[in-house]
Amino acid sequence: MSDQENKPAGDARTPPVAVWQVLEKMTKDELKDWRVAPLDNRPSVEERNLDIGYPFGWYPMLLSNELAVGEVKPLRYFSQELAIWRGEDGEVRMVDAYCKHLGAHMGHGGKVHGNLLECPFHAWRYDGNEGNVKEIPYARAIPPQVKRKCKDVWPIQEANQIIWAWYHPNGDAPLYDVVALPEATDAEWTEFDECTWKIWGSLQNMGENGVDFAHFKYIHGTATMPESELEWGEWGRKGIVRAKMGTPQGEVDGVITATSNGPGQNWVRFEGICETLLIACITPVEQDQLHVRYFYTQPKSQKEGPMAGLAKAIIADVNKQLDQDKVVWDRMIFEPNPIICDGDGPIPKYRQFYSRYYAEDSASGGNEAA
Ligand code: FES
Ligand SMILES: [Fe+2]
Repeated sequence: MSDQENKPAGDARTPPVAVWQVLEKMTKDELKDWRVAPLDNRPSVEERNLDIGYPFGWYPMLLSNELAVGEVKPLRYFSQELAIWRGEDGEVRMVDAYCKHLGAHMGHGGKVHGNLLECPFHAWRYDGNEGNVKEIPYARAIPPQVKRKCKDVWPIQEANQIIWAWYHPNGDAPLYDVVALPEATDAEWTEFDECTWKIWGSLQNMGENGVDFAHFKYIHGTATMPESELEWGEWGRKGIVRAKMGTPQGEVDGVITATSNGPGQNWVRFEGICETLLIACITPVEQDQLHVRYFYTQPKSQKEGPMAGLAKAIIADVNKQLDQDKVVWDRMIFEPNPIICDGDGPIPKYRQFYSRYYAEDSASGGNEAA
């Protein structure tokens, strides 16, 4: 390991804020481990008011290049065991993992047979579009209960080098599409730079961060509380922050635009400084656990030219902000009746908006606060 890797992760760009004092003595490697470490002695999901169900929408599962043709993988998201595979036709399919025959987990040891998923135990073969059993190599007849649809099949889309699955607690069909981001597949832009975390909290609390203006000063150490222009769409939201930013070329007008398309597709564009696209992949594993992968891409011309230092610093800075928030998110409850003061951002409005992502007969998402 080089000295560079071992130097403490803190740096001069963050004025002392309380949470950073928890983290600043860690080496880079220690910080990396801390980001995904288990968190012992957590209060229960119920005690933290996190038993509010999962909001419906498109969510990232894997990078497209993490699932080759003919490959099967196990996943766990939304408190469910899943098996995902890519058929010989190149299409991705996903079903709940347990076989209807004797209950084997098909994500572990299952095989792709043509476009079907073959269970490792007795080779029953599942159709990932129709959700039924198509072949049982050793039987003359397929039992009628599995000849018809017997499994949940997850709608899948691929975009931005990512495989997305549609989650809905009642199995309803998708209400909108994944948004394609041109930079994500542009050859003039870099390969994804990745940073990964486990967050021991809820998606709704994490999403609320963008409209929580006061925390930027106290958690992230910004000099002022950012003014954000907010747009509220049918399924998506947008927040635009304009700020003067210092660069090696002098002061520039920087624009940071954070957009969401449903609760599960989130991205941030940085313009003016070094162009950067952050695709924030956040998928619930349990009601108090999120799998978070941040993927960054930047124009190759800026990543490799005189702007290289700045390009790197932007990524480091955003990752650091997430570290700082994580200290709070890991332990906070969901407060359904928050006491809001006049300096706060539009938190009640956010909650009212967010309530559209919960199915009517599922949990409320704490919307009594709106
Ligand atoms: S358990 Fe899957 S084929 Fe028997
Ligand atoms: Fe934050």
